[in-house]
Amino acid sequence: MLEKIKQLLEEVNSLQAVSPEQVEALRIKYLSKKGEISKLMDEFRNVPAEMKKEVGMRINELKNTATERINQLKSSAAAKETIADDLDLTRTAYPIPLGTRHPLTIVKNEIVDIFSRLGFTLAEGPEVEDDWHVYSSMNFADDHPARDMQDTFFVEAHPDIILRSHTSSVQARVMERTQPPIRVICPGRVYRNEAISARAHCFFHQVEGLYIDKNVSFRDLKQVLLLFAQEMFGPDTKIRMRPSYFPFTEPSAEMDVSCTICGGKGCSLCKGAGWLEILGCGMVDPAVLEANGIDSTVYSGYAFGMGIERIANLKYQVKDLRMFSENDVRFLEEFTAAN
Ligand code: DAH
Repeated sequence: MLEKIKQLLEEVNSLQAVSPEQVEALRIKYLSKKGEISKLMDEFRNVPAEMKKEVGMRINELKNTATERINQLKSSAAAKETIADDLDLTRTAYPIPLGTRHPLTIVKNEIVDIFSRLGFTLAEGPEVEDDWHVYSSMNFADDHPARDMQDTFFVEAHPDIILRSHTSSVQARVMERTQPPIRVICPGRVYRNEAISARAHCFFHQVEGLYIDKNVSFRDLKQVLLLFAQEMFGPDTKIRMRPSYFPFTEPSAEMDVSCTICGGKGCSLCKGAGWLEILGCGMVDPAVLEANGIDSTVYSGYAFGMGIERIANLKYQVKDLRMFSENDVRFLEEFTAAN
């Protein structure tokens, strides 16, 4: 009898079950009224008196071990079952969350796309530039305030190697290696030594446009920019030019578009004006053409430059410029549909 109990104890200790059904079968086999342990109880009657104490203790031990083991198997089978219930077998094996394009990339692509349909080709230049391409060749006077360290990041002081503060430097890069006709669109990152706030950042993005050929006039500039504004902001968009000043264009203008929210009636976005400023432009100053090796008596041209963040703000009403560089996934995911 003791031998039988010992054998059952070993069995019970190594019991295994995966499903609740298997656990129940084990319970019936060992713990039910007709189970192995009950059978032992029945045989207990025949145990000689002097052995009853020892055998009784062993049977109790066996019963407790079996109950404990079966309860253990019961809870782990139940836990496995809940996990199995949560499994979605139709899911792909590897969850690959798709990224989204950055809103500035979306807007940049859109701008480049519109101008490439008008025959402009892409041109790029370095972000670490020399003074000549950023300022001198663009007709900035030696004492122009933009050259100041308050605006410009210096990498090396003599000769001046700087982070470009506008993409107009790419105009110079293109002119020095190409003779007209020139028709380029130049997107890129620019840097300015500004305190970072909701409305200013030490780096941002611009797109520069340059068109040089014979007989290019201000009319051509206006027509191309009107077309751009209507493609970008909708067919009812109007534009207006206000006289302005840039060292590299003469005459120069700033261009506004009719408000993208109220259409011109006046609202909080346009502060009641009905117009929103979006870019600077003008006819390339003959001094710039000459400085870059193009005969200004034969050729004329126009140029324009705009901030990508500015256009993105108008399209998507992003209130804080810092959002563009913080990589907050919740912000980026808002542009999934615009991809
Ligand atoms: N470079 C100017 C800026 O950073 C923008 C600009 C204005 C570019 C007029 C041009 C232009 O090409 O013609 O503010």
